[in-house]
Amino acid sequence: MAIREIIEVPDPRLKVISEPVTKFDDELKTLVADMFETMYDAPGIGLAAIQVGVPQRVLVIDLQPEDPDAEPEVCTAHGGHAHSHQPLKREPRVFINPEILDPSDDFSVYSEGCLSVPEIYADVERPARIRARWQDLDGKVHEEEMDGLLATCLQHEMDHLEGILFIDHLSRLKRQMALKKLDKLRKTA
Ligand code: NI
Repeated sequence: MAIREIIEVPDPRLKVISEPVTKFDDELKTLVADMFETMYDAPGIGLAAIQVGVPQRVLVIDLQPEDPDAEPEVCTAHGGHAHSHQPLKREPRVFINPEILDPSDDFSVYSEGCLSVPEIYADVERPARIRARWQDLDGKVHEEEMDGLLATCLQHEMDHLEGILFIDHLSRLKRQMALKKLDKLRKTA
C-alpha cells in the first residue's frame, strides 16, 4: 500500500469524467487499498479515484464514527486541561460503478469540504435520502437506502466521477470567494 498524491484545484484532471470499472483485478484492489491509506492519512471521510489522478468510477468512504465500546483516551492537547476522546471506529466502504436511484424530494444541508479544495467549507444542499447501487471489489452488486451524512458524502464523491466539485454547487460569487480564500491560504502557507 502507498499514500498517493491528492490533486487539488485547479488541476484540470478534476474535471474529467471517470470511466466505468470493467476489470475486478489485483490492480483495482491495490488502487482501493492506496485510496484508503491516502484518505486516512489526509485525513478525510471520502475519496474518489480521480482525486489521486485515476479516472475510474471508484470511491472509498469511511465516516469514522466514534467507537462506543472503546476505552476513552485522555487527551491534554487542548489548552492543558484533561478531557477524553472516544477513539474512532473504522468502517471502510468501497463503491465501484455507483449509481443513485430514487433521490428524495426533500433536501438536507451539510457544510462540505473536499481534500482537493483544502481548508474551504461551504453549505451544500442535496437530496436527503437516496437509494444507491454499486459493485464491490469482486464485482458483486449491492443496493442500500441511505440518509444523513452517508447519503451526502456518497453524492459528493459521485460528483467527482462527473468532474464536479462541491464548490460548483455554490453561486458564482461564493465560488470565486472560496477560490480566492484558497489562493490566499496557499500564499501564506
Ligand atoms: Ni471531494
